[in-house]
Amino acid sequence: MDKTAHWENVYQTKSSTEVSWYEPDPKQSLDLILEAAGEKRGRVIDVGGGQSFLVDRLLDSGFKQVAVLDISNAAIEATKARLGERASRVEWMVADITQAESLGEFDVWHDRAVFHFLTDQVDRKRYIELLKRSLPIGGHFIVGTFAKGGPEKCSGLQIRQYDAATMHAELGASFEPVESSEYLHTTPTGKSQLFFFGVYQREN
Ligand SMILES: C[S@@+](CC[C@H](N)C(=O)[O-])C[C@H]1O[C@@H](n2cnc3c(N)ncnc32)[C@H](O)[C@@H]1O
Repeated sequence: MDKTAHWENVYQTKSSTEVSWYEPDPKQSLDLILEAAGEKRGRVIDVGGGQSFLVDRLLDSGFKQVAVLDISNAAIEATKARLGERASRVEWMVADITQAESLGEFDVWHDRAVFHFLTDQVDRKRYIELLKRSLPIGGHFIVGTFAKGGPEKCSGLQIRQYDAATMHAELGASFEPVESSEYLHTTPTGKSQLFFFGVYQREN
């Protein structure tokens, strides 16, 4: 399966408010990011940001450096267009997160509904190695995935469900769990999807 082609097709054929992961107010993510960043509000990256409104909220919140990465160029271009002149304050990256070598350093790495697509252990290993290269000691990793008992597919693709124990086991001893929670996301067609969210601090 060509991942890039899949996601380009999604964003070329569906509007931002039609996709199942659409949320007009990414409150869960923003609250966790603000809590992790504290007063500093330094460098933050939204991995697999797509057309999420999170980047708008991060700019509103005064982060000094905001980056958005996505495998889909169409998603990135649409988000840039939505932001208008504010787009120039964001660093945009079009890349497959399992293939990127270096992204720079960030204080907070946020991922809502990307890591759960990594059904191949090699891809998860590459992702976590890149995460470690990008997150200095003390930095925070915030990840949202479908939870145990939640949906088994997202965008027609197989996913892996997580809970606090399985995510911690996946990340390994370099990441200290800070908090985790579950919440119900309501899709644009009214379906409920159970999400797991975990916050981790880079320890060594
Ligand atoms: C379910 S959507 C979630 C989008 C966004 N995080 C949100 O919450 O609205 C998954 C996103 O991850 C992107 N994506 C999927 N696989 C990726 C990969 N290997 N590398 C980078 N981005 C990826 C997709 O293009 C899509 O925008």
